[in-house]
Order: sequence, then C-alpha cells, then structure tokens
Amino acid sequence: MMALSAVLRAMLTEVRRDVRAAQDRDPAAAGVGVVEILLAWPGVQALLAHRLAHRLMRAGVPVAPRMIAAAARSLTGIEIHPAASIGPGLFVDHGMGVVIGETAQLGADVTIYQGVTLGGTGFATGKRHPTVQDNVTIGSGAKLLGPITIGHGSKIGANTVVIHDVPPNSTVVGIPGHPVRVEGRKPDCPDNDWVHLPDPIADAIKSLAVRIEALERAGDQSRAPEPFEIDLQRSTGPNPAGG
Ligand SMILES: CC(C)(COP(=O)(O)OP(=O)(O)OC[C@H]1O[C@@H](n2cnc3c(N)ncnc32)[C@H](O)[C@@H]1OP(=O)(O)O)[C@@H](O)C(=O)NCCC(=O)NCCS
Repeated sequence: MMALSAVLRAMLTEVRRDVRAAQDRDPAAAGVGVVEILLAWPGVQALLAHRLAHRLMRAGVPVAPRMIAAAARSLTGIEIHPAASIGPGLFVDHGMGVVIGETAQLGADVTIYQGVTLGGTGFATGKRHPTVQDNVTIGSGAKLLGPITIGHGSKIGANTVVIHDVPPNSTVVGIPGHPVRVEGRKPDCPDNDWVHLPDPIADAIKSLAVRIEALERAGDQSRAPEPFEIDLQRSTGPNPAGG
C-alpha cells in the first residue's frame, strides 16, 4: 500500500513537471490552465500514457504496457516504446508523427517537435536508439538514427538527419547533420565549415557561362573577314619549278 502511494506521488510530481514544461515552452500554452492542457495537449497526453506504460513494463506486467502505448499512439500520433527511458520535463509540441524507439534515453527538459524520429538504423539488437542529454531541442522532422549521443543543450535543426554524436551546446543542421555552431561559435577550421562546401559542378558551369559570354561579345565585335582574294593569273616567264 505504501509502495503504491509512493508510486502515485512520484507520478503526480512527473505530471506536474510535464504540464509545466508545456506551459513554459509552448507559446500557445501561455495562460492555459492545467486541466485544459491535460485534456487538449497531445504531447502531454502521450507522455502521461508513457509514464504509466513504462512503470508497468518495469514491473513485469505483460501486454498492458504495449496496449497503453498503442492506444496513446492512436489518440495522439506519438509513438513511444514503453521501454524507452524518458527524463522529467519532456515537451512534445504538436506531436503527430513522433517515434521514440525502445532503447532511446532522454534526459531532462528535452523539447521535441512533430515528425521527429529517434530510431535505429537497421535490424541490430541491443542499444540501437539515440541518447539525448538534458535541454536538447529537436526540430520538426529531424531523424536521429542509431546509438548516438546528443550532447546537452544542443539544437537539432528541422529536417536534419543525425547519424553521428553531437557535442554539447551545438547546433546541427542538414543531411547528414553537421555542426554549424559549437558553444555558440561557428566551427573555426575551414574543414568544419560544412555549410559552405565547394561545389565543383556549379563552379565549372559558372566558368563556362563566363567564357561563352566573352566569346559571344568577341563575335559581335569582329566583322566578317574580307574575302581573301587570290590572284590566279597565270604567271609568265620560265617555269620556276625548273625541270
Ligand atoms: C537549428 C535552429 C534550432 C536554429 O538554431 P540557432 O543556433 O539559432 O542557429 P541559427 O539560426 O543561427 O542558424 C545557424 C545556421 O544554420 C542554418 N540553419 C538553421 N536551421 C536550419 C535548418 N533547419 N536546416 C538547414 N540549415 C539551417 C542557418 O541558415 C545558419 O546558417 P549560416 O551560419 O550560414 O547563417 C532552427 O533553425 C531550427 O531548425 N529550429 C527548429 C524549429 C522547429 O522545428 N519548429 C517547428 C515549430 S512547429
């Protein structure tokens, strides 16, 4: 009985923090009450369902955890495997199309937008999903694949595909994801400037265009050459060929 009340108390604390996360990080939730958020914020609903399913799974209860996860998915469009480990204060904004895999681990105060996948890369077993440290923001549509680690305080740009570890306090964008800010600064080394990679094909096309333009200009300026006239009159005198 004591144990049950302790579990309920812990769950209540989690629920309060999850609701506060929505109030703090969703501009649309400013001034919205707890009850309304519980009733109308799919990210919060999916999280509450996950907290229950996760506890039941850890307690060894069969079937029910997956049924709860499936029901939450139908209701919210957010699929969280009951075994995934999720820290306090996760906020899933909008939610639809979010997938969080079985061995994913999320720290505290992570923010996830719609269409994010924390997935595996194949059919490997064991730890195969990302570890996301505290205070990470993952933009809409981003795919984080494999047992990678996203360092605390990092931001993953919308639609980025991340397949390598991300250092703390970085901003990562693109496909494949590459850091464009580390600790608030652009990476110094030119080799790290993945945003401005040389494009040899575009360069070749540009230089061809310049040459063609120069040739066209030269063609306009030059007149057609005077016809070259050859004096075909038969020469007189001795045959220079001798013989
Ligand atoms: C990545 C992001 C978090 C911005 O982080 P930031 O640290 O403020 O970075 P900046 O805006 O200074 O951008 C850094 C560079 O990355 C580029 N960039 C930013 N977001 C990008 C993205 N999603 N894809 C590709 N490039 C991106 C910027 O153009 C900039 O390039 P530059 O250095 O050549 O100027 C933000 O752009 C983003 O994608 N947020 C997700 C928001 C979201 O999903 N909203 C959904 C609401 S429903």
